[in-house]
Amino acid sequence: MSDIQAPKQENRVFNAPEKFVKRANISGMDAYKAMCAAAERDYELFWAQLAHENILWRQRFTKILDETDAPFYRWFEDGQLNVSYNCLDRHLRQGNGDKKAIIFEADDGVVTEVTYQELHERVCRLANGLRQLGVKKGDRVVIYMPMSVEGVTAMQACARIGATHSVVFGGFSAKALQERIIDTGAVAVITADEQVRGGKRLPLKKIVDEALEAGGCESVRNVIVYRRTGGNIDVTAGRDLWLHDVISNQDSTCEPEWVDAEHPLFILYTSGSTGKPKGVQHASGGYLLWAALTMKWTFDIKPTDIFWCTADIGWVTGHTYIAYGPLAVGATQIVFEGVPTYPNAGRFWDMIAKHKATIFYTAPTAIRSLIKAADADAEVHPKKYDLSSLRLLGSVGEPINPEAWMWYYRNVGNEHCPIVDTFWQTETGGHMITPLPGATPMVPGSCTMPLPGIMAAVVDETGNDLPNGQGGILVVKRPWPSMIRTIWGDPERFKKSYFPEELGGKIYLAGDGAVRNDKTGYFTITGRIDDVLNVSGHRMGTMEIESALVANPLVAEAAVVGKPDETTGESICAFVVLKRARPSGEEARQIAKELRDWVAREIGPIAKPKEIRFGDNLPKTRSGKIMRRLLRVLAKGEQITQDISTLENPAILEQMRQVQ
Ligand code: PRX
Repeated sequence: MSDIQAPKQENRVFNAPEKFVKRANISGMDAYKAMCAAAERDYELFWAQLAHENILWRQRFTKILDETDAPFYRWFEDGQLNVSYNCLDRHLRQGNGDKKAIIFEADDGVVTEVTYQELHERVCRLANGLRQLGVKKGDRVVIYMPMSVEGVTAMQACARIGATHSVVFGGFSAKALQERIIDTGAVAVITADEQVRGGKRLPLKKIVDEALEAGGCESVRNVIVYRRTGGNIDVTAGRDLWLHDVISNQDSTCEPEWVDAEHPLFILYTSGSTGKPKGVQHASGGYLLWAALTMKWTFDIKPTDIFWCTADIGWVTGHTYIAYGPLAVGATQIVFEGVPTYPNAGRFWDMIAKHKATIFYTAPTAIRSLIKAADADAEVHPKKYDLSSLRLLGSVGEPINPEAWMWYYRNVGNEHCPIVDTFWQTETGGHMITPLPGATPMVPGSCTMPLPGIMAAVVDETGNDLPNGQGGILVVKRPWPSMIRTIWGDPERFKKSYFPEELGGKIYLAGDGAVRNDKTGYFTITGRIDDVLNVSGHRMGTMEIESALVANPLVAEAAVVGKPDETTGESICAFVVLKRARPSGEEARQIAKELRDWVAREIGPIAKPKEIRFGDNLPKTRSGKIMRRLLRVLAKGEQITQDISTLENPAILEQMRQVQ
């Protein structure tokens, strides 16, 4: 792995305050080590005990882990449960119905509070409504919703009747939505008239209409529309229904559908190294266990906490740490509709102060942009707000650079809140490598150590362990309960992507590079080793963007690479060859704009290339391979030092330096 360099070693170490450690769910390194040792001693027993303790089973399991069909692992196979029952009814039975489940703050600042009792009722009514429409166990339902109580309700209602949901992020285009509807064969789509973010309205229902009209979506019988703004929508009679009509005459209780532990709870699409997104399929039992466990372990959740995860339910973080985890443990959580910079860049800090949030979980990209904003305007600096309610901070989605970590620690956490830098993926279902806040000494920029029972390692291309200090490939050597079960409809791709033969076919390939510290053994993630980019914590395949670009009638060929970016982590840089002559000046700027808008329509605005450069050709070897490494150097604006003797057409390098 000559590409993977060990980052500069970071020597600063921070410990949680003694008071925190004393009260922590996992208190002290010895407690952590004892759990790891228990998992080593009897791996299956370790998980079985936790699964018995943390889940209410309708029928308890007798089988723990079935590896006979590896890598299609099965956990707690003969157990039966219902995820929504575990997230809601359980708390009512324990007398916590009046506890706040969700504090929802809308884009315009209006706050709605929902208790567990009320959420239970909402979920039951919608579950009954869906059943009445003929949605049944195993059916797929696509959810294309804004951040809302209704969005969480929709996910829980699907879980309640055993329907498998597939949430599509509200920023994805009609085409991306259409592809996901077709791939899942969804029978219903749940959406809203419009979504509001940062004072702007986005017509979700219109995008659903476009997706359905584009064809291939005949499986969809109904579109259920939550009236968020009252904006105009077109209604297709017999197909489209208002959410409030669907639930209006429904009973406030609903017998859950008891499902096997392996029953698919959801499918969530994510980018891989080919053009087609992968439908990551998760099971019910193992996933729920993970959501609950990591709330307790990583977030040290207590009954009095006010938990806030700023992710969107369209991403896995919003699944595990909004729709399921906090509810599974009966926590009170904040759900936010808007964006961190509206009405100003103090919004997060203002909301923490207003709702007395105790645990705050966000992405490095948000932190970096708020650092910039605070530098520019002292009024939106976190020090201007009363953030004394906070006791724990978290980071997710991309590497957090030590400077951003320090700023977060000092200015948001006031030097007394531990920071959990949580490494995980859509495929892992929940946290994998992260500090435990009451146990692990923290080092800025390092996600530190795997959770107990997670057998993470750094290996070379053939699967051999590498010594600490040497960069390599991140793998997980044993299956764990919340792991991806398959890629929806494509088991072969699942095997090839995550359990490649070169590594023996049984160990999980994360797709990231990593290095462990010489002395501490701490992990630092060095970034993706495949053609996947991470822009503002959003995962995107270079091939996906390239396919979108070449679908434009003007484009002959395109190559996309990532470029380091101070705020977004990485940014998208596209090298394009047109079917016509290479444009320059105003024409080049015009076409670049047209192509950016095109990509926004094909995938979504998050996939828009920040830079577009035109050439007569792409730099290729004599055998016709695109020299991506060279493109990365060009994107960074650095001098080319590597050997370009195999390059067929060196003259185009000069052309490719120019940004449009
Ligand atoms: O490259 C890693 C990066 O995000 C990828 C997973 O993206 P996604 O499936 O969209 O899930 C994001 C939310 C869990 C990983 O392969 N990544 C995620 N968390 C971290 C990270 N890189 C470094 N440090 C992290 N804490």
